[in-house]
Amino acid sequence: MTGSSLAAFLEEYAASNPKDGEAVSEILLGLAKCAEQVRDYVNQGALGSAFAGAKGSTNADGDTQKELDVLADDNFLDAMRAVPVALYGSEEINNPVLLDRNKKYAIAIDPLDGSSNIDTNVSIGTIFGILPVIGDPAEHPENSFLQPGSSQLAAGYFIYGPQLALVVSVGNGTHIFVYSARSNAFILAYENLKIPQQTSEYGINASNYNEWSDKQRRYIDDCLAGASGPRQKKFNMRWVGSLVADAYRILIRGGVFIYPGDKRKGYANGRLRLVYEANPVSLLAEQAGGAAVCCDEEGGRRILDIIPTELHQRIPLAFGSSAEIACLEQYHGKNNT
Ligand code: F6P
Ligand code: MN
Repeated sequence: MTGSSLAAFLEEYAASNPKDGEAVSEILLGLAKCAEQVRDYVNQGALGSAFAGAKGSTNADGDTQKELDVLADDNFLDAMRAVPVALYGSEEINNPVLLDRNKKYAIAIDPLDGSSNIDTNVSIGTIFGILPVIGDPAEHPENSFLQPGSSQLAAGYFIYGPQLALVVSVGNGTHIFVYSARSNAFILAYENLKIPQQTSEYGINASNYNEWSDKQRRYIDDCLAGASGPRQKKFNMRWVGSLVADAYRILIRGGVFIYPGDKRKGYANGRLRLVYEANPVSLLAEQAGGAAVCCDEEGGRRILDIIPTELHQRIPLAFGSSAEIACLEQYHGKNNT
């Protein structure tokens, strides 16, 4: 089906999913329209008003917000008013926003991922997961976001990079649609991506080496030891610093992404957020034949099984090539001292 449009792809999906297909498709098309708009802001770079610098306000995590974060959030929030979304749970807003009590879906969103790269002309993106509403969204808005990632009906991200693209799964594989200005549409470019099981490439912010657990350090030490070390092969390292870009590379050519917990204040569970970062990316990884785990002492809990306790909670995240993730789990596991 490569070459077909997102709209055509979703029509087929909706036809085979009578329960949620139509509504989820509508939401995805609404997100895609909005992403085109956000891409315009990104494209203007320093010439646009959205790059006026730090705005002074802070997000739920205490990070200083750039104008573009706020703009992207405002745009996606507005776009979701026009589609069947009851609740909007965003990285940029402390509590879920009720949009329409009578609708049946909740969207968890990181409106602008990779914010440290906004000013540097490096790929950034918008990550989202679509969940069924649980109970009355007006009474208990938080509940809909406290479902395991396996409950996501669809998830993915837009990447504002050399190409504007949508990486998405509606539960039947992971696909990439690249935006074509000529056709004014997202066109299916990679159908049913398959992450190679084996890899010799990892991504981690190694500047935190001194803050990691001994187990995490040993995994990287052994990778660095190369062909004459215990792993008996040389590893390459890549770290863009935008989850959307690092995930794209892993989906295309394999590799592993690791953001473990560390000893810095506030980093016991790493940096990535479970509900609107780890869960969408984990669904994409698994649907592409890869793995996604919580890389803590327990060793290898599947991310998609974890029941969130809070919309903004963090999780030590590792995902990518399944054989390498299994190897990492052995280093982290209880039996490895
Ligand atoms: O949203 C968090 C994020 O910006 C991710 O996109 C990225 O993977 C990570 O933070 C980078 O973290 P650090 O700056 O600590 O390397
Ligand atoms: Mn992010």
